[in-house]
Amino acid sequence: MAIISLANAKGGAGKTTAALILATELARQGNRVVILDADPQRWITNWSELTGALPNITVISEVTTASLPYHILDLKAKTDYFVIDLAGARDALVTTALGLSDHVLIPVQGCAMDARGAAQILDLIRMLEEKAGISIPHSVVLTRVSAMVTTRGLQTIKGLLATRGVNVLNTMIAERTAYRDIFDCGGNLYGMDPQRISNLDRAQENAQALAAEVRSLLPARSVAAPKTRSFFRIGRQAA
Ligand SMILES: Nc1ncnc2c1ncn2[C@@H]1O[C@H](COP(=O)(O)OP(=O)(O)O)[C@@H](O)[C@H]1O
Ligand SMILES: [Mg+2]
Repeated sequence: MAIISLANAKGGAGKTTAALILATELARQGNRVVILDADPQRWITNWSELTGALPNITVISEVTTASLPYHILDLKAKTDYFVIDLAGARDALVTTALGLSDHVLIPVQGCAMDARGAAQILDLIRMLEEKAGISIPHSVVLTRVSAMVTTRGLQTIKGLLATRGVNVLNTMIAERTAYRDIFDCGGNLYGMDPQRISNLDRAQENAQALAAEVRSLLPARSVAAPKTRSFFRIGRQAA
């Protein structure tokens, strides 16, 4: 069992999109996935209502700071991956989710240089790591990367983050119509019509690469209890 959070203090960074394409790909590969919808805007919940039942995916709606740990305790025996979709905030719920995560993915748009929302999450992670004495593995994932963005431009962003000691995923999430339409169509990338959606195969390949890289970053073990306990003291203070 592993817990993956998608965090960026700014809205519109690409968190929900990344959460959904990662979760649906992990589920398609046969993993039991629970998506915890911790965003009051309920995008994942709306997608789930539109989709109906999808094998290996459970969506829990209206997750709160108080309920989050209980959902995990309740479902962890029958779950391979929890994917937590957070609001664009820096509040108690985000802090709790970060502290429980085996890996935090921080989406940053490849074209926009406004990385303030990401920096706020990085600061929060550092604070938790220092105060609680825990380690919260995390990576930036560049997203909405279009063919127009030069490799050199992306290398500059990656280099900048590397000098700050931040891991950046090798896999970048491309700007794809399929990643927008999935919220209107429901289901996963494999139920869509390739005649109607351009580059659907590339969108599928990109999702596969993302899932493979994220899996490679996760520990094979479950979250250790002491980490959870020590975190909660700090979580309440930070909130
Ligand atoms: N890789 C992508 N390709 C195309 N559109 C994207 C992509 N990532 C995000 N978007 C679009 O950008 C907007 C914000 O993305 P979203 O995932 O909702 O961000 P957040 O959850 O951080 O607020 C949405 O309209 C979404 O459809
Ligand atoms: Mg969102």
